Amino acid sequence: AHQWRGVIAEYADHLPEHLTRRVVTLGEGGTPLVPAAALSDAVGADVRLKVEGMNPTGSFKDRGMTTAISAAAARGAKAVVCASTGNTSASAAAYAAAAGMTCAVLVPDGKIAMGKLSQAVAHGARLLQVDGNFDDCLVAARKLAEVHPVELVNSVNPDRIEGQKTASFEIVDALGDAPDVHVLPVGNAGNITAYWKGYDEYAAAGVSTRRPAIWGFQAAGAAPIVAGHPVTHPETIATAIRIGNPASWQQALAARDESGGLIESVTDEEILAAHRFLSSRVGVFVEPASAAGVAGLLRLAEAGRVPAGARITVTVTGHGLKDPQWALRNADGEEVVPVRVSADVVSIADALDLG
Ligand code: F0G
Repeated sequence: AHQWRGVIAEYADHLPEHLTRRVVTLGEGGTPLVPAAALSDAVGADVRLKVEGMNPTGSFKDRGMTTAISAAAARGAKAVVCASTGNTSASAAAYAAAAGMTCAVLVPDGKIAMGKLSQAVAHGARLLQVDGNFDDCLVAARKLAEVHPVELVNSVNPDRIEGQKTASFEIVDALGDAPDVHVLPVGNAGNITAYWKGYDEYAAAGVSTRRPAIWGFQAAGAAPIVAGHPVTHPETIATAIRIGNPASWQQALAARDESGGLIESVTDEEILAAHRFLSSRVGVFVEPASAAGVAGLLRLAEAGRVPAGARITVTVTGHGLKDPQWALRNADGEEVVPVRVSADVVSIADALDLG
C-alpha cells in the first residue's frame, strides 16, 4: 500500500529545488477532504472540509514547516525562531526537534491555548512569553533573526508559503479540478497567500482548468484587512487569529482581488456557533479560529450570497484538542458537567432516558 511521504516528496515537481536537498518531514499533508452534508444542506451548496487538524502537530503549519526547516537544515542552520499565537510554535518546535536544531518561540503572554503551549514545551523549544501581542512578537522575532545567527520561520519566510500551497494541490487532485470557491480564516495572511499561489500555479501548469474565488474571514475584533488599517489592540476568543497587523496584508488583497473573492469578518458569537455546528452536526472538532471560515460561509448563506449548488472547499486549520475549553461550555456559556451515575445498568439506562 502507498504510504504518504510528506508534502516535499509528494509535490517535489512543483517546489523550488532548494527545498528538496535535505528533507525534514513528519509525514505532513495528505489530509482528508471531508464532505460535510449538514453544512452543504445549511448553505445550499456542495461543501467539503479540508481537515488540517489531521497534520502531525494538529494544524496546517506543518506543511510550511517541513519546507522552512528543510531549507534551513540544507543551509546548515543550527537555530530557528518564530513569533506565534501557538500553532506555528508547536510546529516549529516539532520540526526543529526532528532536525536536531534549537528552536526559540515568542508567544503573547497569557493568550495561547494550553494544547499548543504544551506542544512547544514537549518538543524542547526555548519558550518566551512576551509582554505584548502577536504583532509585537513578530517585530521582535524579525529583528532577532536580522542580527543573530537564527533563521526566521514565520510565514514571511517564502519557504513557508511554498509548503503551504500544497494544500491547494491536494484539493485539485482530489476533486479533479479547482472548486468554485475556497474559504479560509485569515490571521497573519500567510495561508491565504499560499492557497492562492497553489491554485494559480496548478492552473498555469494546466493541472486545473480554473481558479476558485477566495473567501477569507477575520475575527471582528481583529479585522485589520476589512477595516483597511492596523488594529492596535486586537481581541477575539479565536486566539490563533488575534492579529492586528498581518505581515502578508498586500498578498491577501491580491488573492482577494485576482480571484474575484472577498475578505470579511465574523463575530466571536458566529465563530463559536460554527465551532459547535462542526462538532455536533458534521463530526469534525476544530479550534475556534478554524471555525471562522465556516462562520463566514454560514453568514453569507444567510444573506443569500452563496451561489446555489456551488462547489465549495473550506479549510479548517487546526484541531479541536488544541483548545478544548470551548467545547466544555454550552451555547449559553455555562460549563458542561458530566452526569454522575452508579455503575449499574438501571441507573445508567435511567440517566439515558431509556426507560
Ligand atoms: N487558523 C489557525 C488555527 C491558525 O493557527 C492561524 C495562524 C490561522 C488560522 C491564520 O493563518 O496567519 O496564515 O492567516 N496562526 C499563526 C500562529 C499566526 O502563530 O500559529 P494565517
